[in-house]
Amino acid sequence: MGLGVRAGGLQLKNPLILSSAAYSSTAAGLRQHVTRGYAAVVTKTTTTTPLAGAPKPTVFWYDPEEKNLLSGAEALRNPGADRMVEAIRRTAELAEENDCKIIGSCTGNTMEEILSICRRFEEAGAAAIELNMVCPSTGPHLGQEYACLGKWWVDDTDRAVELINSVKKAVQLPVWSKLPLAKLIDKSFLEALDSKAGADAYCFVGGRMPNLKIELATGKPVLPGNLLLRMEKGLPISPMVTGPVKPSTILHTAFLAKLSRTPLVCSGGLTRGTDILEAVMAGAAAVQICKAVYRDIKAGARMLEELREVMECHGYEEIQSLKGRVLASLPDPPLLTVPGAKYD
Ligand SMILES: Cc1cc2nc3c(=O)[nH]c(=O)nc-3n(C[C@H](O)[C@H](O)[C@H](O)COP(=O)(O)O)c2cc1C
Repeated sequence: MGLGVRAGGLQLKNPLILSSAAYSSTAAGLRQHVTRGYAAVVTKTTTTTPLAGAPKPTVFWYDPEEKNLLSGAEALRNPGADRMVEAIRRTAELAEENDCKIIGSCTGNTMEEILSICRRFEEAGAAAIELNMVCPSTGPHLGQEYACLGKWWVDDTDRAVELINSVKKAVQLPVWSKLPLAKLIDKSFLEALDSKAGADAYCFVGGRMPNLKIELATGKPVLPGNLLLRMEKGLPISPMVTGPVKPSTILHTAFLAKLSRTPLVCSGGLTRGTDILEAVMAGAAAVQICKAVYRDIKAGARMLEELREVMECHGYEEIQSLKGRVLASLPDPPLLTVPGAKYD
């Protein structure tokens, strides 16, 4: 059975990628995950110097029994470029033996910082770069070193285009751009990126759930430290979690696949092998998982086994040939739309 896919300038042994999070911050974490069947593993988003991230609590289950609603408000806690470069270097050979690509995720407060990390990732053995232009939980409320990271790079479209193109020039590797969904479903932003920037893939989180949990003993809201700090400083908050949002991830993938020819790598609530197949049929070149791995460290291997089973059950031989299969049965935008999409 053929699980191989072409995704954003890479040939992958299957469509499943471990997405960026705390488990990929160290050499031990990377070395563990490159042997678990994934076609690629994305490093924790790295900045020039180590960042302590948001005040605790950061990573916790709002629903410890069900494990569906995960707080990920780490605000880019990471060990810094020196240690991540070393972690990639120490993992590169094992990754190659397992045909698992290492994708280096980074951001920075200046273009120079980002270009330097990307060049160092390339030298250390990364197969692609993922530019974090998405992280919503950073900002000056955490200190100056957090002022212009992650999502800051898409606040201005020209800045986003310039970043992607500068990184493309600085390295020989494919450059993936992880972007906020709200920007991707804005037609003017998407068209500008498609026509002026040369990203090899767009990565996105297909949906995040608005969320409020109340601690019954006190009647107080349960919120990550980042939002408690924002409240303290009188800044607006919008509590969201990664959760059971798979159906909206599939819809957003189909919607974006209709609008853009740039390969799409989606994440958001994917936990089963059947979810991988649906995402590919919606037009994804590959998928990423995170929450499923926090729930079960071996989730990737299980999902790949389920993918093989469901393909066999339906008599499918090559997953690549199923890419975008649903699109012919859906109208083109604007007759197909999603909440919040901007067309003017
Ligand atoms: C604890 C935690 C840390 C994360 N850190 C990063 C990060 O550093 N960079 C990034 O691009 N995404 C980060 N993410 C987002 C995930 O990579 C993923 O896109 C998102 O959780 C949606 O996928 P899921 O529903 O499978 O969890 C993080 C998520 C969590 C839960």
